[in-house]
Amino acid sequence: MIQIVDDFFEKEELKKIQGYVKKGLPYIPRYFGKELVRNKETYYGMRFSLKHDKDLADILCRQAEKKFNIKIDVIDPDSGIDMRNLDTLKPHTDPAAANVLLMIDGPVAVTNGTVFYTKRKDEDMKDLDIHIGFQPNRAVFFPSNMTHAANVSPVKDMRRYTCTLFLWQYTDQWGKKYYYDRDKECLTIK
Ligand SMILES: [Fe+2]
Repeated sequence: MIQIVDDFFEKEELKKIQGYVKKGLPYIPRYFGKELVRNKETYYGMRFSLKHDKDLADILCRQAEKKFNIKIDVIDPDSGIDMRNLDTLKPHTDPAAANVLLMIDGPVAVTNGTVFYTKRKDEDMKDLDIHIGFQPNRAVFFPSNMTHAANVSPVKDMRRYTCTLFLWQYTDQWGKKYYYDRDKECLTIK
């Protein structure tokens, strides 16, 4: 189930975070598919990994817990801030139990958002289903096995800053635990 909140941080806190992520964090180029092939097709964007900034990771996790009424037990240390140009549509799933996607800064536009796909019952093909427009301070919580992609924009050099927390284990408001088994690459619910 997808959940959206439009007021993730208080205004002042958001401003601080926007300034921080745009002030030259050491972003590193990232690629899809376990990073084996590095070319334009597999290029994902630039990421600053939260393992380099525990304080920021804590602020983001605590706020996600508050806003989505969950308890975060373990996150992928490679969760991070992404800085991307939106030129290619790359539908994918992520190796985690759930994603918390926070839109930090960028032009407000439908074409700058995130799209979700529905799997057709009888084939591998997926249909475009839900489209969430970009809005700074909007956060989206969704199961990582839902196929999704950053939308492509016809505007050249449109850039956006987002943060994704990949939750490897979390507990929902009813005490149910969701756990991503990294060996079996599947989600377990206890
Ligand atoms: Fe993703």
